[in-house]
Amino acid sequence: MSANYLSVNPSSARVGLAGVFVRAAKLPDAANIFQLVSSLSHDGTLLPRSYAEICENVRDFAVAENVDRELLGCGALHLYGPHLAEVRSIMVRPEAKGRGAGAALLRTLLEDAEDQKVSCVSLFTRIPRFFSHFDFRVVERTQLPDKIYKDCQTCPRLYACDEVAMVRGDLPRISVLGPTTFPRPVLVKLQEGTIKKPL
Ligand SMILES: CC(C)(COP(=O)(O)OP(=O)(O)OC[C@H]1O[C@@H](n2cnc3c(N)ncnc32)[C@H](O)[C@@H]1OP(=O)(O)O)[C@@H](O)C(=O)NCCC(=O)NCCS
Repeated sequence: MSANYLSVNPSSARVGLAGVFVRAAKLPDAANIFQLVSSLSHDGTLLPRSYAEICENVRDFAVAENVDRELLGCGALHLYGPHLAEVRSIMVRPEAKGRGAGAALLRTLLEDAEDQKVSCVSLFTRIPRFFSHFDFRVVERTQLPDKIYKDCQTCPRLYACDEVAMVRGDLPRISVLGPTTFPRPVLVKLQEGTIKKPL
């Protein structure tokens, strides 16, 4: 982690790190965020997000820019409640990787979680090593029922999930969402892989 990193609250003004600036996203950023996220959702790297969903949740997003205010990357912090938040849609353009933008975005989202007094920040990922740099640890997916109820039960990869669940902080002891498609015990068994997809 670069020692030059300046901590920032996403609601505050821009701050810089080696030509990378992170700020809270605004509605006019939504179209660019949509393009960025869509570019990595075809292969399941990121969950697909519709333009409408990004507009509705634009206040969850931080964006990283270069000195010319070109978009380098984005990331979002979704709040479930004081017990849980989730880092979503975090990415950096391929040509801008390795310059600290990902770290700056993640730190900004974590500061936002701290500001919101959230006790646990979660995420699902295929690159756990990146997030372990920031004190995230691997947990069982079933320990994050709100995530399962929010996304997994409608995810096309429900039966073939290749992502790792990670958390930073205390595991949540409650959930606030419930099943809409499957009864809870069935959903948990699906997540454990003990029920096979019907032919
Ligand atoms: C993951 C991602 C956001 C990192 O962005 P980045 O700007 O390249 O990362 P940074 O330059 O800030 O790197 C920060 C640290 O993480 C490390 N790192 C970066 N990518 C990594 C990876 N894929 N795996 C492990 N470590 C990684 C860097 O080496 C650096 O470590 P250091 O501080 O010890 O030097 C970016 O690679 C990306 O957009 N990936 C594709 C989308 C994706 O998978 N997002 C996660 C979805 S959950």
